Parts: sequence; C-alpha cells; structure tokens
Amino acid sequence: MTAQLIDGNALAKKIRGEVAERAAALTARGHQPGLAVVLVGDDPASQVYVSHKVKDCEGSGVYSLLDRYPADMSEAALLKRIAELNADPKIHGILVQMPVPKHIDPQKVIAAIAPHKDVDGFSIQSAGALASGLPGFKSCTPYGCMKLIETTGVNLRGKHAVVIGRSNTVGKPMAQLLLQASATVTICHSATVDLGAHTRQADVIVAAVGRRNTVTADMVKPGAVIIDVGMNRNDEGKLCGDVDFEGVSKVAGWITPVPGGVGPMTRAMLLVNTIEAAERAAS
Ligand code: GUN
Repeated sequence: MTAQLIDGNALAKKIRGEVAERAAALTARGHQPGLAVVLVGDDPASQVYVSHKVKDCEGSGVYSLLDRYPADMSEAALLKRIAELNADPKIHGILVQMPVPKHIDPQKVIAAIAPHKDVDGFSIQSAGALASGLPGFKSCTPYGCMKLIETTGVNLRGKHAVVIGRSNTVGKPMAQLLLQASATVTICHSATVDLGAHTRQADVIVAAVGRRNTVTADMVKPGAVIIDVGMNRNDEGKLCGDVDFEGVSKVAGWITPVPGGVGPMTRAMLLVNTIEAAERAAS
C-alpha cells in the first residue's frame, strides 16, 4: 500500500483565505484583528518563525506588531510590556515566542498574557477549558493536526489514537482534542515500554517527540493515519520528522510530509485563533 499524502501547505492556504475573508469583514466594521508577536533574544530559528508569523498576518489582512528585545531584557520589563499589550485595543492576540532566555520564567510570561488574548492556547485557563470541553483557545499545533486528520475523512469516533509525546503545548492538548472527537486515546512518552505494541494498534498516530525514526514501518497498522509533528535534521542536514517517512508511507493509509505537513498548519491556526479573539472582542 502507498499512503496518500496529507498536504498541509494546501490546507493552510485554504484556511488563510478564510481568515482573510473574516478579517476583511471585521475591518469593514472598524475592528481590524491584530496580533502582537514578541521575541526576546536572537535565536536564529525563532527569528525565522516570527518573521513567518508576521508575513502570514500581512497576507491575511491581520494587523501585526513585531516587538523585538535583546536577550538581556529583564523578566520585569517583559511582564510590563505584556501588560501594555493586554490593555491595547488594537491587539487581540499576544504571542511571546518560546523559548525565552534562561533568566525569564516562561510560566510567568504565559500567565501574564490576558486569557482572552492567549492565541497560543498555552495558559492554564486555555488548557483547563480544553480539558473541560469548554470554549477557549486551542493550542495551534494540535488544532492544526485535527484539521489535517479531518481532511482524510476518517471518523475518529471509536478509533484508537496514539499520541507520542506529553508536552503541554502538543502532546497533552492533542490527546484532549482526540478525546473530544470520541477517539480512544493512548499517550506514550519517553518512559513507555514497547512503544510499537501501542502504535501497532493505532488507527491514528500523532508523533510529537522531536526524535527522528521514532516511528518505523514495523510499528504501523496498515491503513493508519500518520501525523508527524517532529522537526529534526537528518545526517545530511535535511529537515525530517519523527516518522521514517519512506518506510511508513508504504504501510500507512495517510501521512503528513515534513516539511509541508503540520508546520504550515500551526501558523494557519494561529491566525484562526487571532480572528476568533477579534470576533469575540467585536461582538
Ligand atoms: N516556539 C516554537 N513554536 C512556538 C509556538 O507555537 N508558540 C510560541 N509562543 N513559541 C513557539
């Protein structure tokens, strides 16, 4: 069997188009949606990520503000800046790019962002709402993964989904969203004994560990849906995910590529969350 490719670039483009329509409608009513992106320090990968996020906003009619600060910015100064953005009516979403420098506590930063502007969905209010099945911002990567799974037409009800990874930003919210869709969910992680024994039973696998070749062909049930959140480099320096794409695509039913799968969807869902924040503020 050869897996069908789930095209994250194409889906993200479609979603950006829908965002642009909603942004135009809000702007026509005098409520242009706005996103503030805050970057502390000069991590090269973070600089690339934030420039993409700002570019996405420009392409969709969302106002964006890029705040860059030196790596030695104090925690107090950052918290003060977040308080200003919380009070700024032009800004509906606030994203502080992670990781922040070591002397800054990321939990304090996340807690400082007003819950109604937490478009990353990282706050305990957003996580609690998700766990309780209440409306709130969904963390962008898992939200994007759900949209990618939707395109396969596979109904998750009663299916066995295995999430590999238990981070607060991906693994845990991913499991919550799959549970909400009535899947039977297993969360595997670094202490899991015999990962393959779990994944071989899975109708859907979401791999989010940050280690290449974590999922190989012998660990996959024929026809399964494979969502690869990983962003790693192979020995030749080429971008690759957590899944052995070449081998697994011969067994799986559906698979996301890296790059071009989950990555563009994370960015698209950030725009969706920003629009939702702006629509709530305008209503
Ligand atoms: N660093 C890497 N990905 C993300 C993300 O989605 N949000 C934030 N705030 N920081 C990140």
